This record gives sequence, C-alpha cells and structure tokens, in this order.
Amino acid sequence: MEIKIRGLFQKVLCVAFIGILTLNASCTNTKEKEIEQVINDALNKSVKQSLLMAEKYADQPLVLPRSFVDGEMTTSDYGWWCSGFFPGVLWYLYEDSGDEELLKYAQQYTQRIEDAKYMTSNHDVGFMLYCSYGNGLRITGDSAYNEVLLTGAKSLSTRYREKMGLIKSWDFNEKIWQYPVIIDNMMNLELLLWASKASGDSIFKHISVSHADKTMVNHYRPDYSCFHVVSYDTVTAKPHAQQTFQGYSDESSWSRGQAWGLYGFTFMFRETKEKRYLDQANRIASYLLNHPNMPEDYIPYWDFDAPEIPKEERDASAGALIASALIELSSYVDKDLADKYLTVADKQIRTLASDEYTAKVGENGNFILMHSVGSKPHNSEVDVPLTYADYYYVEALMRYKNR
Ligand code: GLY
Repeated sequence: MEIKIRGLFQKVLCVAFIGILTLNASCTNTKEKEIEQVINDALNKSVKQSLLMAEKYADQPLVLPRSFVDGEMTTSDYGWWCSGFFPGVLWYLYEDSGDEELLKYAQQYTQRIEDAKYMTSNHDVGFMLYCSYGNGLRITGDSAYNEVLLTGAKSLSTRYREKMGLIKSWDFNEKIWQYPVIIDNMMNLELLLWASKASGDSIFKHISVSHADKTMVNHYRPDYSCFHVVSYDTVTAKPHAQQTFQGYSDESSWSRGQAWGLYGFTFMFRETKEKRYLDQANRIASYLLNHPNMPEDYIPYWDFDAPEIPKEERDASAGALIASALIELSSYVDKDLADKYLTVADKQIRTLASDEYTAKVGENGNFILMHSVGSKPHNSEVDVPLTYADYYYVEALMRYKNR
C-alpha cells in the first residue's frame, strides 16, 4: 500500500514537473526565438484556428463569428460592426500561405456581408467592407468587389454633412448627443480614400480630410490623448459634449480609442502625404509609448486611467492595433524613431504570440487571441476573444514580416 501511494505521489510530481517545464518553455519561447520564427509559428497557428472556425459555420450562410463568452460562441449577421473582420483574417492568411482552402472560405465569408454596402444607419460600413472586400480586391483583383466597395462608400458618405464637416457616427442617445462622432470613425475613412482613387471622385477624399482635420482639433487634448465621443451642436457646428461611451470616464484615455486614432492618422498620412497627419500620429505614439500606465510588454489595460491598474483587464485588441499601426508608421519616420516603433511592435507581437494571449488550437472558440475588452462600462465582452483583435494581430504579423 505504502509503495503504491509513494508511486502515485512520484507520478503526480513527475506530471507537475513536466507541466511546469512545458509551460515555461512555451511562455519563454516567444522571447527567445528570432522574431521571424515567432511570426511564422504564429501565422501557422492562426491558419489552423481560422480553418476550424470557417469549417464550423460553412453551412450557415448568414453567420459570422463574433466572440466566445463563458464557454459559448456568439455570432452575428452582416449588420454587426465586426462582420468584416473574420473574412479579413481569412484574406490575410490566404495572402501569406496561398492555401486554396483559405481562399475558398475568404470568398464565402466575404460574400456573406455584401448587404452591408447599403447600410446608412451608422458609420461602421468602412470596418465591415474594407477589411473584407477591400482585402479581397487588393489580393485577387476581382472587379465584382469594386462595386460593393463603391456602393458602401456612397452609403457611408450619406452620413456626412458639409455644414458639420464630419461623418455622424451614431444615431442613438439623441437626448444627449446632437451629432456624435467617435474616434473609431477615423478607421472608416480608409474606405473613402480608396473610393476617391478608384472612382476619380474627389468628394470621398474631401470628406475624409475634413473629418480627420476636425477630429484632430476637437477630439484631442493637449497631451495627444483623445476623447471617445465628441458631439457637435447642429446649429453652431461646434462641440457641445466631449465624453466617453466605452471608456472609464469622460476624461480618461480609453485604450482602443487611442489606438484607433494612431492607426487612422497613420493611413491619413499614407494616402494624402499631408505632414500634419504624420505629426499627429507621431504625437499619439509618443503619448502611448511614454504613458506611465503602459505595461512593459506594451499590451495596454483596457483604459489607461482604469482605477484598479494593475488589476484591470488588458485589451489585446488595443495592443494588436497599436502594433500594426506602429509598423506602418515606422516606414514614414527617421531610423531612430523607426527602430523605437519596431522594438515596441516586436515586444507586442512576442507577447500576443505567447501562451499568455494565443489560445491553443481547438480552444477559445477557435479565435486566435484571448483577453480583449469590448465595453467594460456595459460589462459586455470583457476579457474575451474578439474578431478585431485577431484581425489587427494577423495584420501586424504580416506587416512585420513583409516590411
Ligand atoms: N466601437 C468600436 C469599438 O469597440 O472599438
């Protein structure tokens, strides 16, 4: 009996030891390997997870993955603002691998959101269509995608009023907001800038430049952090409220909002070559990278001013977005600054690619990353996988690899 117990005890010790060794190995792995290897491994894992996800809903033509909350998958139809991210992941992974299965699924899931091109009820058309159809067009040149994107750009433009000089983001909360514009709206300008080039109609660029210029003035504080929501008075066209919706407080720095701004002003510079946008992106980057509450691994807490830091949740989606934006921004600045941005992006990628953030294949509802925050004040999608975290993560991997 005593021998049996001792044997069992030794077995348990042995399994625990091997477990600790494996955990350590996989956690430190991404720190010790060459970044190229980290990225290739991360892309391979992403392909496996994304194919499993695509297979899961292959026979449900209206369904797009959304999240995995309390062990349950959540999905949406084309109308949710995130509908285009999963097709976008499939496009990027197809672009990298040339895998025909990925191409088939990228086309199939992209087609599911075609009706978003008629959406005029909010500003999210850019997210939906540019990540899906935009990547599809860029990679395959399929001219049928052109029409969808142009129709979507026209729908989005209906939300622009010349008197205000901005696209109206949302139509709800009318008792508080007359003409709400959220920082996220910067991201939808990429579709319009594309539309201007594709159609030759400068109105789309005019809208983008006007929106970005007013955002620069009214969303940004002197330290280059930004408000989430700025609502404009429809009579004076001046801000009447500067608030938050998904952040900790009106005066706080909601992390993903800061990331949307960094990303948005970076592509505004790419597309217009106007130095003011490059300066703005660099100043936002400086604010973020020097923030005392930015963790050493550069994956932010969900809000830089969240009250319980360091016990607050991290937001992998903000980390992935910042990484992707910094990699692009590094190509527009001098070598010293570029090295600084790439060093940060390298750290972010290694962290996100580690077991701390990347799920095991077959787990996490087949999303790639864990630990993002949708909206903490609404207790919605807190510390869960989100399609946009996966999208900007895969984009960052590709940008780093191909830079
Ligand atoms: N409204 C988009 C976001 O949650 O970032």
